[in-house]
Amino acid sequence: MSAWRPGSGALSSPGGRSGSWRCWWWWVLFIGVSVGSGDPWMSAEACPSSCSCSSTRISCVDPERGINAFPVLQSEAEMENITDIYIANQGSFSSINDKDLHYYKNLRNLTVTNSRLTYVSKLAFQNNIKIQYLNLKDNNLSSLSWRIFKHLNMSYLILTGNPLHCSCENMWIKLWLGEEADTQELHCIEDGVGRKLLSRLTLPNCEVPMATLSPSKVRLMEGKHVDLSCETSGVPSPELIWNMALVSNYEIETSGQLSVLRLSNLSSMDHNSKISCTAENIVGDKESSLLLDILFPPKILKLSDAINDHHWCIPFSITGNPKPKLQWFLDDKAVTEGPFIETKIHDITDREYHGCLQLDSPTHLNNGRYRLLIKNEYGSDEKEVEAHFMRKPWDGTDKEPYYYDLITEGPPVEPPEDRVAVYVVVGIAAVAFTGFLLMLVILKFGGNSKFGIKGCALFQNIPGELVSR
Ligand SMILES: *[C@@H]1O[C@H](CO)[C@@H](O)[C@H](O)[C@H]1NC(C)=O
Ligand SMILES: *[C@@H]1O[C@H](CO)[C@@H](O)[C@H](O)[C@H]1NC(C)=O
Ligand SMILES: *[C@@H]1O[C@H](CO)[C@@H](O)[C@H](O)[C@H]1NC(C)=O
Ligand SMILES: *[C@@H]1O[C@H](CO)[C@@H](O)[C@H](O)[C@H]1NC(C)=O
Ligand SMILES: *[C@@H]1O[C@H](CO)[C@@H](O)[C@H](O)[C@H]1NC(C)=O
Repeated sequence: MSAWRPGSGALSSPGGRSGSWRCWWWWVLFIGVSVGSGDPWMSAEACPSSCSCSSTRISCVDPERGINAFPVLQSEAEMENITDIYIANQGSFSSINDKDLHYYKNLRNLTVTNSRLTYVSKLAFQNNIKIQYLNLKDNNLSSLSWRIFKHLNMSYLILTGNPLHCSCENMWIKLWLGEEADTQELHCIEDGVGRKLLSRLTLPNCEVPMATLSPSKVRLMEGKHVDLSCETSGVPSPELIWNMALVSNYEIETSGQLSVLRLSNLSSMDHNSKISCTAENIVGDKESSLLLDILFPPKILKLSDAINDHHWCIPFSITGNPKPKLQWFLDDKAVTEGPFIETKIHDITDREYHGCLQLDSPTHLNNGRYRLLIKNEYGSDEKEVEAHFMRKPWDGTDKEPYYYDLITEGPPVEPPEDRVAVYVVVGIAAVAFTGFLLMLVILKFGGNSKFGIKGCALFQNIPGELVSR
């Protein structure tokens, strides 16, 4: 890689004096093109000097030239491609801070081992939801909050060889690892007592919280009122957090471990919205949730002109809970659906159904006024649209098709001088383009080490050989 750096050996080394100037302008062009196009291999310089990098992996293991902060590459794009980071034997590496891993979005595998890691920020892995494997073996961690890992779906967490305290804050590790805690021989340190197996850790007043939402189902007409209560337990006393995004009005009344959510005038816009109540303490969290099931009459949100896309389609969007029944009318006559005319629902969202009245090769007999009627037990709605698929044949009033005219009325023929001029211009362009392509090819192969150096060496050596003969 270093061979491509401007000013490094490769630029001046090959060939005698006679040939090197010829190479020189190739190099100038070549470097110009490389820089201009942001060629990926230039960026290998971005790897921190004491680490080694590939396109997907960063590894910093050299204890002599150590790192004291998280390795960073030159561009965001490069960091996004990294899936593996391996840090070992770094006596000055002590913390993973808020933003250190921000750009390593695709990181799956992180190892920091035999270093002095003491602090991991609660926000450290905020942006790294793909982390699967986290090895923090043999460091200086005395505690680690579950909140750091809350949003992750990790398969492995290795913590052996850390001076973990036998504290309530670390209790989640025992609970999360289960038997794995013994497999890893995880110990914790109790002040004045010494080391004990983490799997044996019991602490008074250190309990996972619980949350219970009641009622557990809500199925009500829009406009109604309902009270939801959430009861929590756990020690230390958990924080109680409601989580929802509602259109309906609501009020929250909390006293101690019990909280009531008063929903009034339920809106159909909240059908299928999630309401959750979470209890959270130092040991962990627990969520209890439900989806609102709000009953409301149907409504046609959209009924549009027929469009032709593979099949003819009269597009519609409707809403209603329960799902409305559909009936189509053509000029007030009920449409009997079958293989040639059929209602198709293409997309169902939380509250809406989007679809088509699909017509297979409709003729003039299908032309007319289409009315859509939708119904459920709470009401109905209807809308109309005109559809015109094909003209009646032999209508008499229509003129003959006019496409014959187009053939005789082509564009006027150009005078000969102009055509010659065009040929000349095209010819010049073709030659220029071929030359350009040729240059690109030379530059491209010049870029791959063998061709580049040999190519230049060839230019310089041939005259020399001819002279010597
Ligand atoms: C990232 O990876 C993709 C696919 O492997 C590759 O095309 C791209 O050039 C890489 N980007 C960088 C900056 O290395
Ligand atoms: C993560 O990296 C470590 C060390 O390089 C390796 O032992 C382990 O198998 C990797 N795990 C995954 C899931 O890739
Ligand atoms: C280990 O962490 C503790 C704080 O938890 C700190 O006081 C101590 O200096 C750290 N030791 C080393 C060797 O970094
Ligand atoms: C979490 O990871 C497991 C296995 O690694 C996988 O089967 C599961 O689908 C993942 N869950 C989510 C929500 O990503
Ligand atoms: C209930 O909500 C609907 C629309 O969501 C609104 O039109 C109506 O005025 C509300 N009624 C009360 C009593 O707030």
